[in-house]
Amino acid sequence: MPDRIRLDGKVAVVTGAAGVIGSATIRLLAERGARIVAVDRRGADLKTAVKDLPASAEALTVEADVTREDEVADYVRAAVDKFGTVDVFYNNAGIEGDIKPIWEYSLESFRKVIDVNVVGVFLGMKHVLPVMLKQNKGSIINTASIAGLMGSPKIAVYSASKHAVIGLTKTASWECTGTGVRVNCVCPGMIDSRMLSTILQGRSGGNEPPPMDRIVDRIPARRLGQASEAAIVAFLASDDASYVSGSHYTVDGGRTAA
Ligand SMILES: NC(=O)c1ccc[n+]([C@@H]2O[C@H](COP(=O)([O-])OP(=O)(O)OC[C@H]3O[C@@H](n4cnc5c(N)ncnc54)[C@H](O)[C@@H]3O)[C@@H](O)[C@H]2O)c1
Repeated sequence: MPDRIRLDGKVAVVTGAAGVIGSATIRLLAERGARIVAVDRRGADLKTAVKDLPASAEALTVEADVTREDEVADYVRAAVDKFGTVDVFYNNAGIEGDIKPIWEYSLESFRKVIDVNVVGVFLGMKHVLPVMLKQNKGSIINTASIAGLMGSPKIAVYSASKHAVIGLTKTASWECTGTGVRVNCVCPGMIDSRMLSTILQGRSGGNEPPPMDRIVDRIPARRLGQASEAAIVAFLASDDASYVSGSHYTVDGGRTAA
């Protein structure tokens, strides 16, 4: 019995794979034995993200916009054409949007965030679920956020979109009743990343963001998370999580512990 969670041979489709969390997670999944289909709208960065993956990952990159249904159908078809199936779907692409209070937020920017973070997650599940339901097996892991569990100043639409991801996750889990398909989501907290820096910078309104020790003061772990600390995704992807569905998992160093 291996002492670590293994994903040998499983086909994992990951969106937002060129980003900070996505690229760390394809590495994690590949190191555990998964074969990888990496999807992002940034084609050149995708190539960089898969460059040093183990050969066993047989990495396929697909440049696609998750808000376009034809492109979503294409990335699912590309995975099935190359590997015959999809076992794991890490539905992770997302944007933070503008960092402004509601009364300054444009409708156009609001709709853009909903389009990527909610419509993109919906479309991904819409096209992956038939593949998984046909084989009566599979694991979907959506990326929400701790902003999907509480209010977050100046990122109202981001927060609303991540609340929606949790709702989509729970509903999809019910809709897979009686099948071997599981649907869960992860809620990362403050991860050391471009997205977090952009949010902190935007909240400070052009001034210096507060010093890091003040930020981490509200996190029991007393530090930011690293994108590489995503082993929960490997667990949820694996058969070890066979009785886990409809749940959301915080990966936040205790930030949301009441
Ligand atoms: N960084 C954090 O602190 C944090 C915290 C909680 C949740 N999250 C969530 O984790 C996920 C990944 O975030 P990240 O920090 O890696 O951000 P990131 O910006 O580094 O990566 C996001 C990736 O998604 C891609 N993307 C955006 N819109 C797309 C579209 N329409 N079609 C295809 N690809 C698209 C981007 O090109 C990018 O590569 C997001 O859903 C984010 O909301 C991040």
